[in-house]
Amino acid sequence: MKPLIIANWKCNPTTLKAAKGLFNSIQKGLRDVKKAKVVICPPFIYLSNLKISKSQNLVLGVQNVFWEQKGAFTGEISPQMLKDLGCQYVIVGHSERRKHLNETDEMINKKIKALVKAKLQPIFCVGESEEERKKGQTIQILKSQIEKGLKEISRKEIKNIVLTYEPIWAISTSTNRKDCPPEEAQMMSLLLRKILAKKYGRGGVNRTPILYGGNVNSKNIRLYIDEAQMDGVLVGGASLGSKEFLKIVKIARG
Ligand code: PGA
Repeated sequence: MKPLIIANWKCNPTTLKAAKGLFNSIQKGLRDVKKAKVVICPPFIYLSNLKISKSQNLVLGVQNVFWEQKGAFTGEISPQMLKDLGCQYVIVGHSERRKHLNETDEMINKKIKALVKAKLQPIFCVGESEEERKKGQTIQILKSQIEKGLKEISRKEIKNIVLTYEPIWAISTSTNRKDCPPEEAQMMSLLLRKILAKKYGRGGVNRTPILYGGNVNSKNIRLYIDEAQMDGVLVGGASLGSKEFLKIVKIARG
């Protein structure tokens, strides 16, 4: 499997000009990269302005979605609209949305179901806080997030979901953050696969990519891909500079 490198731009950059500039330099730098797949997730508003030129390894995603396809839902963006613009992936369950926008497991589940129905790929984020980790609740939290987030998702559908382990305490903007040791990331990825296997049977989940997210940069990418054996990474802060992001992609492809 080619490593999957996902750029989560979050609420950045603040001008269309800067967004186009960043996107174009990443696209240019990826021209000769064949052994990695890159997904760029800009804010919605920039999506239709970012043009992918014939490229096998770069696609567009976004950072959120609503769970209905159309109708009287002021301010929302539907899976159908995203599909029409050529978007292929959608981040769901990110800890920043869970925390600041009170997104619940039930809302996340509705989004995942709507995306699967529209044939878009959810990038489903799970992860524990520093406090939960200290209290030894990590396994319980991950199990519960997966159980609730994937409610009514079938064995066939799970193959189209990308699961991301993103410990909140390792995210670059978290206060008093710490690096997640590669052994711990690997342990969590094995645990996640075990949880999935219990729910769907072993054969059903071997093709579900499991990614790591939390302060990934060009200095530690090798640890997460080679040592922790993750199928890819979700990159926040380090995806906002084309040079650094391209470095990450080039190291990850091995
Ligand atoms: P970070 O963000 O790489 O800046 O830690 C990752 C994320 O929150 O998706």
